[in-house]
Amino acid sequence: MSRLARIAVASVAVAAFGLTMMATGSFAADPANGKKVFAANCVVCHGDKGDGHGPASATMNPKPRDFTSATEMKGIDDARLHKSISEGRPGTAMVGFAKTLKASDIDDVIAHIKSLLKK
Ligand code: HEC
Repeated sequence: MSRLARIAVASVAVAAFGLTMMATGSFAADPANGKKVFAANCVVCHGDKGDGHGPASATMNPKPRDFTSATEMKGIDDARLHKSISEGRPGTAMVGFAKTLKASDIDDVIAHIKSLLKK
């Protein structure tokens, strides 16, 4: 095979792999970026450990969610996380981030939040 043909075959393989990953939705989110997004946008309320005790949380009612608590996070699946982070929680201090964060940042911050859960 010529060098060019080999490059062409390799590119097709890479593209096919990418499409498969997209189709199966298994493109890995990036928790390291999620941590940065969290630090910049969420810690004031949720706290740097994600336990809901950020500096601004004291007077809030309801309190920011404790992402380390299996009890508090029970039943909150990815779809709900996505909706709450994008659109906020009406009637609470939890604002929506659909306008301020990229879609990939929201996916990444979800991966970070899920890593905080104590098993
Ligand atoms: C101004 C304070 C504040 C900031 C900033 C904030 N949150 Fe919240 N968040 C809250 C409060 C208060 C709640 C509790 C809402 C409730 O009980 O319904 C909450 C709840 C949540 C929940 C649970 C929602 C649900 O469906 O029950 C998630 C997930 C969440 N926040 C993620 C984030 C992420 C990610 C960021 C940063 C991108 C962020 N929050 C920034 C105050 C905040």
